[in-house]
Amino acid sequence: MLHLESLKDLRATRSTWVNNGASIAFVPTMGNLHQGHLRLVEHARSLADKVIVSIYVNPMQFGANEDLDNYPRTLAADMAKLKAAGADAVFTPTTEMVYPRGLSEQTFVEVPHISNELCGASRPGHFRGVATIVCKLFNMVQPDHAVFGKKDYQQLLVIRLMTEDLSLPIQIHGVATERASDGLALSSRNGYLNEAQRLQAAQIYTVMRSTEQALQQQNIATVSDIKKIEQESQQKLKAAGFTPDYVSIRRQQDLALATIGDNELVILIAAYLGKTRLIDNLEVNL
Ligand code: PAF
Repeated sequence: MLHLESLKDLRATRSTWVNNGASIAFVPTMGNLHQGHLRLVEHARSLADKVIVSIYVNPMQFGANEDLDNYPRTLAADMAKLKAAGADAVFTPTTEMVYPRGLSEQTFVEVPHISNELCGASRPGHFRGVATIVCKLFNMVQPDHAVFGKKDYQQLLVIRLMTEDLSLPIQIHGVATERASDGLALSSRNGYLNEAQRLQAAQIYTVMRSTEQALQQQNIATVSDIKKIEQESQQKLKAAGFTPDYVSIRRQQDLALATIGDNELVILIAAYLGKTRLIDNLEVNL
């Protein structure tokens, strides 16, 4: 597995591969890799001849009150995992390379509307940071395919829209969320939970399942019925010790508010456990 530390090396490697007829799949990450990331690499391997993974903790997607400095950086362990998973190259740009004129001077990419709702409402500027870095990485790597986890459902939609709006010739793939045996979605943030919180955290999955059951079994005649299910789920999260940010039932395709007649839905949850903000989602096909 190659470790590419400069854009020059990345471009040279990519050119050699592409000139030899290879297709390229790309998995952007912020490191601190777990089984969920390795699933993305596995999926990427099924799509193309060569797999490039990037590891870059992107300052532009962190808010002022979010702990960028303490984000876990575990490069040696990540490299070992990626090698075992069969990645062909790991690209690790520095902030000097990515934002040479500083964040405030950086041209940015913003996907309207969807970037300001749900997680975007609680994390202003977050999706601008995500769209900008992903667009930059796409231009650096120039892959045929790019793979993202469905765990970050809203992020996946932002990236799909950005790719479409900017006519980027890249196919975007979403991969199902990897879960622990108790249902908790794997996430780097789980590392912030203490032992008791880690046990409690699985209740998000339990609440999502009961929300799904309500959608499948109740007679939903009006939008108020959907709102009622959301409110009941918020109450369940509170009773389980969370501070909910939102429980929202949306359309899978565009994350518009679910309405009567929509069959392909997704339950989206964001909730705090102590200081840790957890997100999860469940697709429901009625
Ligand atoms: O999902 C992530 O890890 C990040 O948001 C991403 C897509 C790598 C952009 O920094």
